[in-house]
Amino acid sequence: MDSGQEDASRSRDDAPSSGHQRAESRRQPSTPEFLREVSLTRIEGIRVGHVQKVSLVPGKVHEMRTLSLKPLLFEIPGFLSEDECRVVMQLAQLKGLMESQLMVQDGQEELAKELNLSPEEIFNLLDINQDGQLQLHEILTHSRVRDGIWLTPENLREIYAGLQADKDGDGLLSLEEFRLLSNDAFQRFLLQRGVKRSQLVRNSRHTWLYQGKGAHQVLQDIKARVTRLTRLPPSLVDLSEPLQVVRYEEGGHYHAHHDSGPVYPETACTHTRLAANTSTPFETSCRYITVLFYLNSVDGGGETAFPVADNRTYDEVSLIQDEVDLLDTRRNCGKSNLRVKPTKGNAVFWYNYLSDGRGWVGEQDEYALHGGCVVTHGTKWVANKWINIDPDYQRQARYQQLVSQQPEDEDDDDDLTLNTDVESPSIHQDL
Ligand code: OGA
Ligand code: CA
Ligand code: CA
Ligand code: FE2
Repeated sequence: MDSGQEDASRSRDDAPSSGHQRAESRRQPSTPEFLREVSLTRIEGIRVGHVQKVSLVPGKVHEMRTLSLKPLLFEIPGFLSEDECRVVMQLAQLKGLMESQLMVQDGQEELAKELNLSPEEIFNLLDINQDGQLQLHEILTHSRVRDGIWLTPENLREIYAGLQADKDGDGLLSLEEFRLLSNDAFQRFLLQRGVKRSQLVRNSRHTWLYQGKGAHQVLQDIKARVTRLTRLPPSLVDLSEPLQVVRYEEGGHYHAHHDSGPVYPETACTHTRLAANTSTPFETSCRYITVLFYLNSVDGGGETAFPVADNRTYDEVSLIQDEVDLLDTRRNCGKSNLRVKPTKGNAVFWYNYLSDGRGWVGEQDEYALHGGCVVTHGTKWVANKWINIDPDYQRQARYQQLVSQQPEDEDDDDDLTLNTDVESPSIHQDL
């Protein structure tokens, strides 16, 4: 696994489901209030289908359409030119793309041995709803999060049959049934049978392209355009992750996930690790915004699906039913509430977090769940620009302070403040 993107979904499922806490409640009282003058712009969606004109490049007006309000999601046709798309793909190819997900069996057994957990204790960890039985979805979630292997209910039934695990045949594993299985029975079964690429959470290749000084002009232009689009302080965009370029071959997919982790008091963001004054057990990517660029038009499939966009309510359990698993983008993209067709040069962008109501990043937006549908014909190229912001305002400010003190950034000092005087409200007008 790479990059912390999978880590986002990992901590999402690993972390306790209660105890949500707003970011500001753990701000440090010692820091002066005046630092909180910053207010992040959040673009208004108005209503689904609303179109606003935006000026992003001189002499050209783009139209930005609201695709959903939950999450706040927009589409901008022609955000990149054909040439820009070609250059980004060529640069990525020149650099070389690596497997987005590797099939590694990394030290899980040792961890379990070290902790010396009893079968009861493991059973308890897996029994999310604490009803004394392991439902299919409890095992599925576990294998997806821990091993990155995307089991389907049928796979699991096949494994149960192979291991004669479900003695009473009720489709559930009781503690008694679980006890009869050896520690790593599932893993060993899978290993023996072999795991195909199509059975992974993600089946693609990717690379990272830096966009700072000295980078190809096209990459710097894209960064500047993203800054204008999002109307965020340039320093925040500058300090964000490089551009990620992703290639899916025919048959490639990326099951539904969050690009960012949830906000808990004990979570730290990967990008502000420097400024964290304690080491935390949970580290996650904090990606306030995702800008997704389509670098080519795909011959078949490959849509970006948002399974629960604009749902009236969000119910995580109902996402995985025995019949329909809405997270499965190989099977159930058709049942997603919203699908975006990959069209060369188009961009979509959405907010992975809500606002805290005070101009900063609030809680994770659970509706931002999305994935890449299976590519049925041809190849699919996309790029991701993530804008990293720590929901903990003080930690973000400390981090920017620290980076601005690095000598090589001397001439950049002015860019590295959180001041928002760069905002240009006139570039977004309603149609
Ligand atoms: C991603 C992602 C969607 C797509 O790379 O994080 O969600 O359509 N991609 O490829
Ligand atoms: Ca259970
Ligand atoms: Ca049973
Ligand atoms: Fe994603």
